[in-house]
Amino acid sequence: MTLSTELLENTIKPHGGELVNRQAVGTQREQLIEVAPQLASLTLNPWSLSDLELIAIGGFSPLTGFMGEKDYHSVVENLHLSNGLVWSIPITLPVTEAQADELTIGDKVALYGEDNQLYGVLTLEEKFTYDKENEAQKVYGTTETAHPGVQKVYEKGNVYLAGPIELVNRPKHDEFDEFHLDPSETRQLFYDLGWKTVVGFQTRNPVHRAHEYIQKIALESVDGLLLNPLVGETKSDDIPADVRMESYQVILEHYYPAERNRLVIYPAAMRYAGPREAILHATVCKNYGCTHFIVGRDHAGVGDYYGTYEAQELISQYETELGIQIFKFEHAFYCTKCDNMATAKTCPHDKTAHVHLSGTKVREKLRNGEQLPKEFSRPEVAEVLIKGLQVTEA
Ligand code: ADX
Repeated sequence: MTLSTELLENTIKPHGGELVNRQAVGTQREQLIEVAPQLASLTLNPWSLSDLELIAIGGFSPLTGFMGEKDYHSVVENLHLSNGLVWSIPITLPVTEAQADELTIGDKVALYGEDNQLYGVLTLEEKFTYDKENEAQKVYGTTETAHPGVQKVYEKGNVYLAGPIELVNRPKHDEFDEFHLDPSETRQLFYDLGWKTVVGFQTRNPVHRAHEYIQKIALESVDGLLLNPLVGETKSDDIPADVRMESYQVILEHYYPAERNRLVIYPAAMRYAGPREAILHATVCKNYGCTHFIVGRDHAGVGDYYGTYEAQELISQYETELGIQIFKFEHAFYCTKCDNMATAKTCPHDKTAHVHLSGTKVREKLRNGEQLPKEFSRPEVAEVLIKGLQVTEA
């Protein structure tokens, strides 16, 4: 989709200034499909496939391919690309040494999914080895393999391939088709809706009352809300994306004004990198056209690896450079004495009156077959989750 000059001038600039589009079309696409069987080939796992897609559609602008060694080190050590632009998480293509040995710099490499479908082509510019322990420590803040992101680092191949990519076929998100928009499309949508300010909210959980509370506070200050749930790979005990998507539709329908919200999937894998991932999520939301982004309590965290406000502290250091305004929220809870959602900033009562909410608690209660109290979850959402999990776990 080509955006008009008027739109580009009147909306937030993508990260780095230009919205990347690496989707091959027309004769270029046909030629790539034709030559692919003769090219060296690789099978991408779902994680790498989602990175390929996000690069191609501009969600990861200004990246045009998988990162080379210079960018990789610059990102891991200094949270910036080698051109000086803030970037927090390496976007890399790992392969085994044996796979790397088969490939020569300058090769075009056909990229297949695990379904044997051709998705893209990489022009191989670099292959490099990397220090896993250093990546784990710097990006995830720990080398413990109990951390699901770190475990992935240790599982993956020892060599990174780098170079620009072309997307030839779109990975399918059939079940979410209606909510599958590219950054160019969300930008057009916000423009058409007349939204000058849009707050992005990324989540891997069903929307509970604390989420709703902070979203609505943000919505008091901006024109629209982009609910941008991550639907790529997550750890196995997270609630499956299809169940969550149904729960999002239900809560938006019953509790949000239709003309002030849009639900659009974020087709990425979850890294659980806490503070650094908060910066990535904000960057991606900026590329989708958001002017604001919410970072609450322990954003993208897992277990006790990050402090409650560590993500807010880190992103605050880069907020000006990022060019997207961050709405930071205190830990929100339900106060039985206020009979309302609140935070320590707004509630005078002691802890015994507070019902604390988190995605982890919602999941625990659901798995134990417990009811989700109204302080936790809207009843319509609870109903979808209970039904959805019964089906999934049957
Ligand atoms: S995640 O992708 O960031 O792991 P999660 O659902 O846990 O998803 O959180 C989405 C956003 O809501 C994050 O910005 C997080 O900080 C915020 N959040 C979640 N629970 C609360 C809470 N009880 N109070 C304040 N912010 C919260």
